[in-house]
Amino acid sequence: MQTILVTGGLGFIGSNFIRLLIDDFSDYQVINLDAVTYAGNPENLKDLENDSRYTFAHGDIGDRKLIDELLEKERPDFIVNFAAESHVDRSITGPAAFIETNIVGTFTELEAFRAYCAAGNKCRFLQVSTDEVYGSLGAEGYFTEETPYSPNSPYAASKASADHLVRAYHHTYKLDTLITNCSNNYGPYQFPEKLIPLMISNALEGRDLPVYGDGKNVRDWLYVEDHCRALELVLRAANSGETYNIGGHNEMENIELVRLLCRSLDRRLGPLPDGRSRQELITFVGDRQGHDQRYAIDAEKIKKDLDWEPQTDLAKGMEMTIDWYLDNQEWLNQVRDGSYRKYYQEMYNKR
Ligand SMILES: NC(=O)c1ccc[n+]([C@@H]2O[C@H](COP(=O)([O-])OP(=O)(O)OC[C@H]3O[C@@H](n4cnc5c(N)ncnc54)[C@H](O)[C@@H]3O)[C@@H](O)[C@H]2O)c1
Repeated sequence: MQTILVTGGLGFIGSNFIRLLIDDFSDYQVINLDAVTYAGNPENLKDLENDSRYTFAHGDIGDRKLIDELLEKERPDFIVNFAAESHVDRSITGPAAFIETNIVGTFTELEAFRAYCAAGNKCRFLQVSTDEVYGSLGAEGYFTEETPYSPNSPYAASKASADHLVRAYHHTYKLDTLITNCSNNYGPYQFPEKLIPLMISNALEGRDLPVYGDGKNVRDWLYVEDHCRALELVLRAANSGETYNIGGHNEMENIELVRLLCRSLDRRLGPLPDGRSRQELITFVGDRQGHDQRYAIDAEKIKKDLDWEPQTDLAKGMEMTIDWYLDNQEWLNQVRDGSYRKYYQEMYNKR
């Protein structure tokens, strides 16, 4: 049995990663440290609460004492850091939290990891990062692992800073670290402020579907389970100090994606009560400040080194994702009206 400390495991990708480790592998013990911010939802892993291979710890990656205690108690073989403020729009209106968690928090976690290794423990640290650190592409070209960092939003800059720290800890202290830079993920349990779940939930309620600018910004979409499988593989098989780009070869303009979601919902549910297609809910709104035009990943290196390729094409992944949100409307409603937070705030504040 190998022990993995996951940080930020109650969010979208972290909770899918933990579920994969528990459901598809028998040899991982998982400790999940999460601060339960607005984006961390204990409902995401409620069914694992009584699983003997899963333990939840409530706390902040910026709390050095807590991390030291957790490392001492749990003796992990791996640390996987998902914990972050992750929404670009929030980073534009309030960047401070992004500096605090994404940079200072990751630094604190790295310092605890360094002390843990210095005490003779063998452990590897995987930093889960984003392709947004590379900046924006024009109509041509792809991000490779050699592309210079050129982050454009406070979110991307904070993730880039954390990546640099992780890289430096490998180079300077010879620690066993890894970095992955992934394209946009989609799938179950994504917080409905992000494009796909936002559009699905608004379309279900017959509300406007706000699309930034002319909707022509291009993103490279990856089904979250494919990302999680890549992370497990990198953790287990990559050489120390490596960086891998992870992407889905699924580029699409935002407006095309929203139209695809509308067509699929119309086909399943029929038109809106007033007879209109959901596409008529699309409303173009003022563009995001500094909006990156295009992201696209060259994932050749991870294919060549580790034989990883995405298994889910966009059409199939989108159908599975829409199915999930339709089947889990209570989850969606609780997240949207905030009631899940009230319950857990009360629960945690009592501790
Ligand atoms: N969503 C994507 O498309 C995408 C793509 C590439 C990379 N990433 C990266 O993957 C990681 C996970 O993304 P996500 O979409 O699941 O994010 P998310 O916002 O859904 O989840 C973040 C989680 O981190 C927790 N958290 C926040 N601050 C914390 C702190 N100080 N201490 C402990 N826990 C804290 C939150 O409670 C939440 O559970 C992030 O680092 C993000 O940069 C995301």
